[in-house]
Amino acid sequence: MIRLEGVTVRYPNGVVGLDGVDLEIPDGQFVVVVGLSGAGKSTLIRTINGLVPITEGSLTIDGREVAGASKRELRDIRSSVGMIFQSFNLVKRTSVMNNVIMGQLHGIPAYRSLVGAWTKEEKEIAFQSLERVGIVEKTWTRASQLSGGQQQRVAIARALAQDPKVMLADEPVASLDPPTAQMVMKDLQRINRDLGITTLVNLHFLDLARKFGDRVIGMRAGKVVFDGTGAEADDAVFEDIYGRSLTAEDTLPGTP
Ligand SMILES: Nc1ncnc2c1ncn2[C@@H]1O[C@H](COP(=O)(O)OP(=O)(O)O)[C@@H](O)[C@H]1O
Ligand SMILES: [Mg+2]
Repeated sequence: MIRLEGVTVRYPNGVVGLDGVDLEIPDGQFVVVVGLSGAGKSTLIRTINGLVPITEGSLTIDGREVAGASKRELRDIRSSVGMIFQSFNLVKRTSVMNNVIMGQLHGIPAYRSLVGAWTKEEKEIAFQSLERVGIVEKTWTRASQLSGGQQQRVAIARALAQDPKVMLADEPVASLDPPTAQMVMKDLQRINRDLGITTLVNLHFLDLARKFGDRVIGMRAGKVVFDGTGAEADDAVFEDIYGRSLTAEDTLPGTP
């Protein structure tokens, strides 16, 4: 369980990223976080991962305080949290296999990734992870040769290979075309249901949020301003979260 109590994040330049956030995310939940650019979605994810220090309040994962964790504890926390980004963040010049195996390398010296001397177990875990996202046939392809959707699925496989308890995805479909965005969201949802990995996905598009959010959290100016189901998040709710009326850009073109 992830628990935030009165969490405020103030960046060194004085900008408030999170403003007194209280949240409880039970194990296994699939949560979609929505809000305009600058609302604090990325800050929330980086805070949970221990990348951004909190200024006030308390943040615990399974009862362990993230703020004030030692370097070693932070490494522990990060190895149990899989991260997925809008820009995929793969090492483009190397194979899908190498990229996915790197997911298992928390705390292991980087030279092994350069040598590419993987154990049978490491390879097996990589294959299984790639099977989960349906692209095992790309195992030996260079990451640079893949489409955006394929790269994002490799990134999901890489996160899975580290056997995470929590998956944090920061606008994972923002640079994908609509059908591919749906597919990647379905992958994340299926993995959440099959493996029970607590999943937090930052999204911009409200139709995707409604469709996939078992729970939708709306953020505005660093605060949680809505917390409910996708079904409850009607247009009026979204206008309230966004602080303006909705436009065509708020929905994914061609969503059924
Ligand atoms: N590294 C940073 N330094 C200073 N301010 C930041 C930093 N990152 C984000 N911010 C500010 O914090 C607020 C929340 O940003 P962010 O969490 O990136 O929102 P979102 O992901 O919803 O677009 C914004 O005002 C943004 O400008
Ligand atoms: Mg962001």
